Amino acid sequence: MALRTTPEVSGMGHSMKRKEDPRFIRGKGTYVDDVVLPGMLYLDIVRSPHAHARIVKIDSTKALAVPGVLAVITGQDLAKYNLHWMPTLMSDTQMVLPVEKVMYQAQEVAAVLATSRYAAADGAAVVEVEYDPLPVVIDPRKALEPGAPVLRTDKKDKKDNHIWHWEWGDRAATDRAFTEAAVTIKEDIYLPRIHVASIETCGCVASFDKINGQLTVWMTTQAPHAIRTVFALVAGHVGLAEDRIRIISPDIGGGFGGKVPVYPGYVIAVAASVLTGKPVKWIEDRMENLQADSFARDYHITAELAASKDGTLTALRIKTLADHGYTDAAANPSKFPAGLFHVCTGSYDLKAAHVEVDGAYTNKPPGGIAYRCSFRVTEAVHTIERMVDLMAHQLKVDPAEFRMKNFVKPEQFPYKSALGWEYDSGNYGGALQKAMDMIDYAGLRREQIEKRAQGQLMGIGISSFTEIVGAGPSKHFDILGLKMFDSCEIRVHPTGKAIARFGTKSQGQGHETTYAQILAEELGIPAKDIKVEEGDTDTAPYGLGTYASRSTPVAGAAAAIAARKVLTKARKIAAHLLEVAEEDLDWEPGKFSVKGSPDKSKTIQDCAFAAYTNHPQGMEAGLEAVSYYDPPNLTYPFGSYICVVDLDSGTGEVKIRRFVAIDDCGNIINPMIVQGQVHGGLTMGLAPALFEEISYDENGNVQGGSFIDYLLPTAVETPKWETGHTITPSPHHPIGAKGIGESATVGAPAAIANAVVDALWHLGVRHIDIPITPAKVWKLLRAHGVTE
Ligand code: CDP
Repeated sequence: MALRTTPEVSGMGHSMKRKEDPRFIRGKGTYVDDVVLPGMLYLDIVRSPHAHARIVKIDSTKALAVPGVLAVITGQDLAKYNLHWMPTLMSDTQMVLPVEKVMYQAQEVAAVLATSRYAAADGAAVVEVEYDPLPVVIDPRKALEPGAPVLRTDKKDKKDNHIWHWEWGDRAATDRAFTEAAVTIKEDIYLPRIHVASIETCGCVASFDKINGQLTVWMTTQAPHAIRTVFALVAGHVGLAEDRIRIISPDIGGGFGGKVPVYPGYVIAVAASVLTGKPVKWIEDRMENLQADSFARDYHITAELAASKDGTLTALRIKTLADHGYTDAAANPSKFPAGLFHVCTGSYDLKAAHVEVDGAYTNKPPGGIAYRCSFRVTEAVHTIERMVDLMAHQLKVDPAEFRMKNFVKPEQFPYKSALGWEYDSGNYGGALQKAMDMIDYAGLRREQIEKRAQGQLMGIGISSFTEIVGAGPSKHFDILGLKMFDSCEIRVHPTGKAIARFGTKSQGQGHETTYAQILAEELGIPAKDIKVEEGDTDTAPYGLGTYASRSTPVAGAAAAIAARKVLTKARKIAAHLLEVAEEDLDWEPGKFSVKGSPDKSKTIQDCAFAAYTNHPQGMEAGLEAVSYYDPPNLTYPFGSYICVVDLDSGTGEVKIRRFVAIDDCGNIINPMIVQGQVHGGLTMGLAPALFEEISYDENGNVQGGSFIDYLLPTAVETPKWETGHTITPSPHHPIGAKGIGESATVGAPAAIANAVVDALWHLGVRHIDIPITPAKVWKLLRAHGVTE
């Protein structure tokens, strides 16, 4: 993309250094735990050691005797205000604190309020809870068997653990395509529970001013406005109307979808502050964060793919069991209980597809959040990319060649998928070819043949994914009825500097820089002169927040539209100042000049000053605008990743030798930030591919509840990422941009899994579920006689 602005202005395409970084790298950010208010109290939470148990008694005597402990809050206390249950974002119900029974290990049971964090923790340690254990249901397949203990006894008339059934696509056409297919393959794929494990855990400071009836909550939320509305809906009956609630999302140390839900700790802190009139701080510790906050994935998938004799893919059929824990607290748009899983036809031109998903309750924490992914897109991408690879191997066709043959072709865009999505633009073959050239694909395949002859295990894996981001067109997308638009409000000050506020909330993505760059591109005001603010519901325009890579597709578009409104007014002012008609003006970023007389010009700064000092008669003063942008479609970023692995045939260790990632997010706002997003995203894709999993034993004890056994990749395990891009602008987005935040996390695991299976295919290995641990590989090597 040709640059339209100078480095001084730093519009789109400039690798401007991040405006927020000076405060972050000097330790001067303000995170929730940095908020300290006079007289602040502290909350700590008592959690259940059982996965399913009736609460017989809670004895607070010893806790209340701890110096500094002021109160022990139980479900019974909250029940007096009808605050012991709350709605989830998927219109299910979730306990704030239990009255009758606990449903998973580490569930909140009671909360201790004290004058210091230490006193609260000491108090929590001695709250005595008597439990009566109940049968535990961990496996969602068993949960749906007849005779399984019914978990949601709170729901009148609920006779099983089935939450919902959802299906999409043309079943009859798909079945027909399978009957007619020359080749079909079928595979069970499990995507285990994982956790976002952000650097900053969740927390809040709730401060209720009894005199003014005003509640202010600083909290780790990715969606402050939606949270304010939810609070008002839940607590309106105790006097907390929306105009009395101010949510402030200060700096956030990573969200990745995990900071979208409302956790009980937030609600308890708010209730405690409202009751005491004192500020109350609640900050989770690392183990609480891992064990009780929303998980991601946990999809048991059975996929089938059909092809004709010449290797043309024809149909896809998927059945999935979604383990939601004890309540469906997924953060999906209301209409889509399985998120956007039905983008599972991926980058391929399939004639028919059908997908079915059933949700099940188990004795595990709730969730189903979009871990750095647009509502189950990672699950969809992993499935189709594994299946396509499997089919290519089955047909003995090179996986790259097979993809090239079956891709949706550039001339087919806008492309309507078999499952109804309208892909806006793409050039899948272009991205794969670039990745193949960069990595020398042909050379690697030759090397693989030589290595195999010497008994060495080398694999090459491809993932050519299509993403779907920018929720969303409000005709399809809402959360709890709130339409999924987003917003930008700009105010240009008399001296030509500006402030812009947004309904989104950065958690490290660099919005303060990139939004300013979009405005700089449109207005010619230097990005450094534009202050960007997000996260305060008292000042920012209403928006649905940041997750699912929606900021650029939605709020980024709002920025461009609001800027264009400002420019329309600035043009009138310039015409007035230059005493010509508006049509006689030329615009280049930052300056209007008279057509044919370029020396007669007015800068955007001149226009801003005149907007307050010398605006035309009849025109309102000021230079500002707001846009609430409802996108006409989603954007469809894509990419092709190629991974080369060498397996240690003695230990089963997977060593990533090379990883090339070509991404296409349309027009790029800041290349350096995009590269950073891809690097981080790839590392978060590597994590579940090789390391991360939260599993449970049959009694519901969490395995993976601390960083001792929940393995995050460090710099040591992370390979050198080799990145590049192609640019296919979105035709409907005002600046042609698509999202990038999550592409790499979505696309990377399949490339790694495909590479490992590729290394082992000749031995008869067809599939390995992620995480592909050394132990799993070693067992396979032993089973196939490679090692003893
Ligand atoms: O919603 P979220 O910010 O997580 O995701 P995003 O919209 O994909 O943006 C992630 C970061 O990459 C933001 O700072 C964007 O402005 C930047 N970006 C960019 O520079 N160019 C693009 N085409 C897309 C995103």
